[in-house]
Amino acid sequence: ETVEWDPEQAGKGEYDHFMLKEITEQPTSLAQALEGRIDSANGRIALADFEPGTFADVDSVQFVACGTSYHAALYGSLVLNQAGIRSTALLANEYSVSAPPVDDDTLVIAVSQSGETADTLAALRQATAAGADTLTVTNVVGSTAAREADDALFIRAGPEIGVAATKTFSSQAVMLTLLAQRIAADRLGDPPADLEALLAELEAMPGRIERLLDESTARGIADRYSDSESYFFIGRGLGFPVALEGALKFKEITYEHAEGFASGELKHGPLALVTPETPVFAIFTGQEDEKTLKNAEEAQTRGAPVIAVCPDGHPAVDAADEHLAIPETVPDLAGLLANVQLQLVSYYAADLLDRPIDKPRNLAKSVTVE
Ligand code: G6P
Repeated sequence: ETVEWDPEQAGKGEYDHFMLKEITEQPTSLAQALEGRIDSANGRIALADFEPGTFADVDSVQFVACGTSYHAALYGSLVLNQAGIRSTALLANEYSVSAPPVDDDTLVIAVSQSGETADTLAALRQATAAGADTLTVTNVVGSTAAREADDALFIRAGPEIGVAATKTFSSQAVMLTLLAQRIAADRLGDPPADLEALLAELEAMPGRIERLLDESTARGIADRYSDSESYFFIGRGLGFPVALEGALKFKEITYEHAEGFASGELKHGPLALVTPETPVFAIFTGQEDEKTLKNAEEAQTRGAPVIAVCPDGHPAVDAADEHLAIPETVPDLAGLLANVQLQLVSYYAADLLDRPIDKPRNLAKSVTVE
């Protein structure tokens, strides 16, 4: 596996920006992440460095991360909770003042693309000092996080040059979903009943993303709403971290105001901001979609255009003003397909505004100060 990388050599190829290149690479980067890690013959997760039973004593999991990696961590944490394992995702920069207690049955997972983010390393060191077992999920072999954590799981996304993380988010979320199911299987003794279906769906992901990229209508939507005042993203369950990530990506590269909310929170405050100038992207993952649709319709009643991110034939398609189509899959993965559509919307919106997409002002790919 590689450590050295020269960005100049990478080349954008036929693409105007690394970001679009990296969005388009996702079928390949995900296939690489999954390579050899799914044992379909036996319906099992095969993580080479983790013998079956490795996580049998894990009583609870704390994820620490920043930025996009935090959204992937939140995703993994929700999958773990849904699988019956106590877990929380914490912002690494808040960990020093408000870390929940750990003991020797606590596993702390530091999620970091670079493995060099100072906030995340500080949280990792604090967890180690407190006696927790630690693991890092990272893209960079030989990074500080990989060296300092007890164990490392590499996402194998390849180098990412664009400051805005895209393909690494997808690979992190997929690897965290796999890891969460492994932890649950080890801890609870039995693999979850629907594991085989999930593994089959995971293997189908690269092909599905390929199709989504080919057929995406994101450019037209970015164009039609490019004059708006604010952009809102809502999702429920696993759609929630995707809403947060959709908004973060959008603000990072377009410099426009964007916010992500849990769908059910819209009515507890943000609705006061909703007008015809605030498009709402609603993410449907198959987890209580009817409630999310109601929430989206509350915004629509106030004049906001609603863009439904959901499969063809979904009830939200007719109710919404616009549709970004995602292939059918299981709820554990639907949000990741939605996220790819939202990456494209952000990219095209930023391109229309002529922003320096690969190097947004004031931001760095890796932040090595606390
Ligand atoms: C910076 C980058 C973000 C990234 C965050 C965490 O702020 O601009 O894109 O999500 O750091 O980086 P990491 O390498 O720890 O995932």
